[in-house]
Amino acid sequence: MLSLLLYLAGNGFVGAFPSVLQGCSKLATLDMGNNMFFGVIPPWIGSRVPLLRILSLRSNNFTGEIPPELSRLSQLQLLDMANNSLTGSIPVTFSNLTSMSIKVPQNLSIQDPSNTMKYEDRINIYWKGQELIFQRTLRLLAGIDLSSNLLSHCIPEELTNLQGLQFLNLSRNHLSCVIPEDIGNLTFLESLDLSSNGLIGAIPPSFSSLSWLNTLNVSNNLLSGKIPTGAQIQTLTDPSIYSNNSGLCGFPLHISCDNTSLARDERKDEVEDHWMYYFVIAGVVFGFWLWFGMLFIVKTWRCSFLLFVDGLQCKIMKKMSR
Ligand SMILES: *[C@@H]1O[C@H](CO)[C@@H](O)[C@H](O)[C@H]1NC(C)=O
Ligand SMILES: *[C@@H]1O[C@H](CO)[C@@H](O)[C@H](O)[C@H]1NC(C)=O
Ligand SMILES: *[C@@H]1O[C@H](CO)[C@@H](O)[C@H](O)[C@H]1NC(C)=O
Ligand SMILES: *[C@@H]1O[C@H](CO)[C@@H](O)[C@H](O)[C@H]1NC(C)=O
Ligand SMILES: *[C@@H]1O[C@H](CO)[C@@H](O)[C@H](O)[C@H]1NC(C)=O
Ligand SMILES: *[C@@H]1O[C@H](CO)[C@@H](O)[C@H](O)[C@H]1NC(C)=O
Ligand SMILES: *[C@@H]1O[C@H](CO)[C@@H](O)[C@H](O)[C@H]1NC(C)=O
Ligand SMILES: *[C@@H]1O[C@H](CO)[C@@H](O)[C@H](O)[C@H]1NC(C)=O
Ligand SMILES: *[C@@H]1O[C@H](CO)[C@@H](O)[C@H](O)[C@H]1NC(C)=O
Repeated sequence: MLSLLLYLAGNGFVGAFPSVLQGCSKLATLDMGNNMFFGVIPPWIGSRVPLLRILSLRSNNFTGEIPPELSRLSQLQLLDMANNSLTGSIPVTFSNLTSMSIKVPQNLSIQDPSNTMKYEDRINIYWKGQELIFQRTLRLLAGIDLSSNLLSHCIPEELTNLQGLQFLNLSRNHLSCVIPEDIGNLTFLESLDLSSNGLIGAIPPSFSSLSWLNTLNVSNNLLSGKIPTGAQIQTLTDPSIYSNNSGLCGFPLHISCDNTSLARDERKDEVEDHWMYYFVIAGVVFGFWLWFGMLFIVKTWRCSFLLFVDGLQCKIMKKMSR
């Protein structure tokens, strides 16, 4: 079987996504980067070009949403859609990208029968903050780059299913919500860039299980709380990767978490104290009115109470006069 590669990168092409590619069912690599393509990314890529391993649409002006149908590309290892004008959310169906969810991507190449064929490939990959040209060793790499778009909503928790991912760049979008709690499941992640979004909450403790991570950037978000500790994350000593957030503390920042946590506890205690006061006051008021209310409402009780008080008074008077 022949593996087909199509490089159109950096040629100044202008136009919509070429529909002629619908006939290229054997295409394994499609690099359309650095052109002036525009319009939507057609959903048919998911079904008509099913053998794609590499899809780069980087630095064009594609608009609209990322079609969920792309998750049907079961061979896809590299998806680069950075630097376009894509909107909407990251499809939850991405958790179905089979070849990115295999735990050890290397196993893929060992077991893949198509590996016996002559498979020459070459692509420019942007990761760990630099551009590298990968050749041949490519089949050992799995990654997603959706940076510099207009994507919004949450990072789907389902993305943590892609346990073969080695790099993930979602920086410079409008993503909000918290970072998925199970992100530590991405065991082979080497490069993670979530910078310049609107992410809130704490950095999940599971970060400490990202034992291959050597490039991280979560700056320019609204994150707060303690930076997780752990063998690998401890080696990332550049404080700028955490800069411009709402209240991160702990190593490598020179902000101690002691004060902030203390302040939070105090505030909690205060709230609890207030509640106690309310309950005591409510109890007193209720008890008081229960007693007097009864006296006012029930005539016979009122009379016997007054008689009782009168009687008491008589007894006291008698005792005193003695
Ligand atoms: C983003 O794309 C524009 C053209 O659409 C290009 O001029 C620019 O250099 C690209 N930026 C990066 C970081 O690739
Ligand atoms: C991209 O397309 C949008 C909408 O069609 C347009 O407003 C914007 O100017 C374009 N950007 C570039 C860099 O061509
Ligand atoms: C993933 O694929 C399976 C089988 O094709 C399908 O049943 C399931 O709904 C898909 N999941 C998502 C999130 O699309
Ligand atoms: C994947 O490869 C590792 C060693 O590289 C091996 O221990 C493991 O059993 C393999 N997994 C599968 C499913 O073949
Ligand atoms: C992520 O993408 C942005 C912009 O597209 C780039 O500047 C940055 O270097 C990338 N991050 C990593 C870790 O490669
Ligand atoms: C992450 O891993 C844990 C433990 O292996 C598992 O229970 C959990 O379901 C995983 N989460 C996701 C989103 O796959
Ligand atoms: C982190 O990301 C921000 C914005 O995306 C960028 O300006 C900064 O240079 C990055 N820092 C590192 C250390 O890569
Ligand atoms: C801080 O991050 C926000 C995004 O969360 C961004 O709008 C703002 O420009 C950043 N400020 C600086 C000084 O980088
Ligand atoms: C924490 O408290 C110490 C002394 O009580 C103070 O010097 C330091 O500035 C405080 N840090 C923060 C972040 O409030």
